[in-house]
Amino acid sequence: MTAAPRARDALSVDDAFAADVRAGLTAAGQKRLAPKYLYDALGSALFDAITQLPEYGLWRAERRLLERHAAEMATRAAATHVIELGSGSASKTTLLLTAAAARGRSVDYCAIDISAAALASTRLALAGIAGVHVRTLEGLFDAGIDGALAARRGPVLVLLLGSSLGNFDATASRALLARVRASLRPGDHLLLGNDLRKAEPVMLAAYDDPLGVTAAFNLNVLARSNRELGTDFTLRTFRHRARYNRDTHNVEMHVESLVDQVVHGPGWEATLRAGETIHTENSHKYAEDEIDALLDASGFRVAARWVDAAWPFASTLCAVKPA
Ligand code: AVJ
Repeated sequence: MTAAPRARDALSVDDAFAADVRAGLTAAGQKRLAPKYLYDALGSALFDAITQLPEYGLWRAERRLLERHAAEMATRAAATHVIELGSGSASKTTLLLTAAAARGRSVDYCAIDISAAALASTRLALAGIAGVHVRTLEGLFDAGIDGALAARRGPVLVLLLGSSLGNFDATASRALLARVRASLRPGDHLLLGNDLRKAEPVMLAAYDDPLGVTAAFNLNVLARSNRELGTDFTLRTFRHRARYNRDTHNVEMHVESLVDQVVHGPGWEATLRAGETIHTENSHKYAEDEIDALLDASGFRVAARWVDAAWPFASTLCAVKPA
């Protein structure tokens, strides 16, 4: 397949996709594809649709918290620089940036996202907020933090919203938070959104909606692989699966092969048995003390926390602990 010319960091993402699909499909044991590959233009649009599903309560829970508390968050952080890791369509970000700019100093906002399509939505959502200067950076979360902060003139607020951290396992979560901490100084803050544990059917339904939007979002990673890498996944021979793992407290997404089959990619082939799955995402569900421990271990302390009453979800404002 020929791809349109792309920016250099985007090209390296494409190369990584080819290598990761090959490695993930030909692995002995559980086959896997990393969740970051769910977000091409179609995947980002499908995720936006997920946020509108009645079952996906976490998105509205966080929006309610920001609607109610953005002013206090902005006052406590007093930031002139806001960096968002995984901005998506940024509709909740407007609440924070509006509150931050209302304090009277202009705000530099930088969005870092793996999806060029998501960044286009980010720019649209944030155009025209008075006093806010918007920049976007296509890449992985940790790629651009230091660059984005190079010209800082005041306090920084890093946003990691939507329970995005839940896609990382415990080790990678600590590493990402420590990486963020290393770029910050005393007086800076992190606003972290985490979906909390709740009744299992409620957690599961958020990832297994009856309209099939989450199924489309999940299966799209196979379609993307066909489009961009020339693999030959037959989408109708796969189905979406979501399950709650009680040991890890993760909602797991898989795509399950309905038949025995062989899938081909450039220079490789992979055998799938009927019932075999490709693991595409973990969405971790947190306990509050677990978030505290994770933050403490990565150099932050809890400055304030807000929890939604209707759908347990925590927004935690984290201050930098002195090194
Ligand atoms: C955007 C990573 C927070 O894990 O809940 C939504 C992605 N996956 N439905 C999540 C997702 C299935 C979402 N995050």
